[in-house]
Amino acid sequence: MARTKIAVLISGRGSNLQSLIDAAAEPDFPGEIALVISNRPKAGGLERASKAGISVEVVDHKSFETREDFEAAINHALKTAKVDFICLAGFMRVLTAGFASDWRGRLINIHPSLLPSFEGLHVHERMIQAGVKIAGCTVHFVSADVDSGPIIGQAAVPVLPGDNEEKLAARILEQEHKLYPACLRLLLENKARLLGANVIYDDTVVATGELINPPTN
Ligand code: GAR
Repeated sequence: MARTKIAVLISGRGSNLQSLIDAAAEPDFPGEIALVISNRPKAGGLERASKAGISVEVVDHKSFETREDFEAAINHALKTAKVDFICLAGFMRVLTAGFASDWRGRLINIHPSLLPSFEGLHVHERMIQAGVKIAGCTVHFVSADVDSGPIIGQAAVPVLPGDNEEKLAARILEQEHKLYPACLRLLLENKARLLGANVIYDDTVVATGELINPPTN
């Protein structure tokens, strides 16, 4: 069976891109990363893609007057590479409602919080300031609003005494690298799918375990 052609859109270092590249290298992975697009010419993730032999495109948002023109250039690159699924991985440009609706059900994102809490920027700092005891990350379908849309999966980690932004970000990032490829696989294998405003799962997909912080025993 032909593997789904995926594009990963990045803006920075690309550690989540790397986790997707590594997952897609497994022989039974149901998708292949056909293209990596960065809106920043110097994004570290571009080198990771090239190293893995994946085509890269830089679509610099600064070269376009409008978001629509910027997205038209992205769409052109996606079409040329025959992409049928998009993963945003640290892509820090807001997409228009039109783009989100054109790619509805085929456009997903990862965000370093348990959405719908703490969308937007400076997430780790804001979580520490708010004193939350459990943090985490979310993979979700992209809808018109920033960091919103039907949730596909979440991973939780404790916030520990003495945590600063860096320590908490590192703890969450470790889970991001597990969660993103796992959610992508579920979607591509049709074990999770979008139904209206929600995501539904096969009976084989069952959660176990719990995280209580501070512990009760
Ligand atoms: C990741 O933590 C990702 O969750 C976050 O940017 C980082 C990118 O790191 N995304 C967002 O905040 C989206 N709103 P990476 O380039 O190493 O994957």
